[in-house]
Amino acid sequence: MGIRSARGAITVMRDEGDEILSATKELLSEIITRNQFKHDDVISIIFTATKDLTKVYPAAAARELGFTSAALMCAEEMRVEGSLPMCVRACVTAECGLPQRDIEHVYLREATRLRPDLARARRRGAVAIAIDGPGGAGKSTLAKMVAEALGFVYVDTGAMYRAAALYCMRKGIDLSDGSLLARRLQSVEAVLDSMDLEIKFVDGAQKIFLCGGDVTEAIRDSAVGTGASQVSVIPAVREKLVALQRKLAQDCDVVMDGRDIGTHVLPNARLKIYLDADLKTRVTRRLKDLREKGREAESVEVERELRERDHRDMTRDASPLCKADDAVVLDTSNLTREEAREKIIELFRRGSEFSLRENGLTAGSLEVTRNVL
Ligand code: DC
Repeated sequence: MGIRSARGAITVMRDEGDEILSATKELLSEIITRNQFKHDDVISIIFTATKDLTKVYPAAAARELGFTSAALMCAEEMRVEGSLPMCVRACVTAECGLPQRDIEHVYLREATRLRPDLARARRRGAVAIAIDGPGGAGKSTLAKMVAEALGFVYVDTGAMYRAAALYCMRKGIDLSDGSLLARRLQSVEAVLDSMDLEIKFVDGAQKIFLCGGDVTEAIRDSAVGTGASQVSVIPAVREKLVALQRKLAQDCDVVMDGRDIGTHVLPNARLKIYLDADLKTRVTRRLKDLREKGREAESVEVERELRERDHRDMTRDASPLCKADDAVVLDTSNLTREEAREKIIELFRRGSEFSLRENGLTAGSLEVTRNVL
């Protein structure tokens, strides 16, 4: 055992007491769990906060997490031109069995920009949020918003099945011709062997390339969406894409959306959400999306397509769409996207605190007067 220090930083969305406390708790839980620090072995925590954070001392979060004997201190940060606003930094010193070179410093949300060298560096377990649900429930919009708020990478797995469908269509395979599944299986499997699928992240946005060509927009066509649902029943297709998805989630923190993420692709995701909405709402959202892209569609047609796809996705043999036992159901029918985003972030933070407690911490029994330390 030796004395080690781990550093970290996180940005806060608003100068409000609850926001500062929950961001600080998130930061502390990540520093502690990633470095396997034990609660009683923490010696001191030094916090700094930028001048624009005025409502509460970040150290109050440490008290609320039960760090009552560790020495806590807060200081206002130096103001340096161009530095990141609304930022809390922490330096945790603890007795620990790891050598200092193996200590992981933790930079979250916008603060990942401060240490890009660490963001994708060797990790002792990246964090994942899995979002599953039927078409039109708002998965991709929300997954994108949550990823942005937490500084995670957004991975859209539906886009990969769409790319596989587009590839088959371009190779002349009619996925919808009602041909026997066995015949379709063989031709699809043979064709897929030559599929050169590449996923790139450009300015945080996922881009899909097929044989070197950017198909990010082309795969949004509704015929390709139906093809994706048809091609996704084939186990060989799923195996290939699931391996790719797991690889993406290995090295960086992700919000991944799809149909089987919580049940199959990332069963150890820190948070699993099953996103749902009533059919009428989902149809309205799909129509709005299509209109924004300059495409007109009939409501009855969109409803029929959604029903068929959901039925196929939920009843196929290979990893059908269903709620994971430990997923939280979130019905977005009557929520704005901002309200839904806040709910997911809140669930994620509560989950992080829970995993911290599982790690040997108990919530502090101390009454904390937030502005008085
Ligand atoms: O989410 P989306 O509409 O882009 O997905 C297109 C189809 O791909 C969907 O109907 C079913 C399939 N899919 C899947 O089987 N598993 C996933 N993880 C994601 C999508």
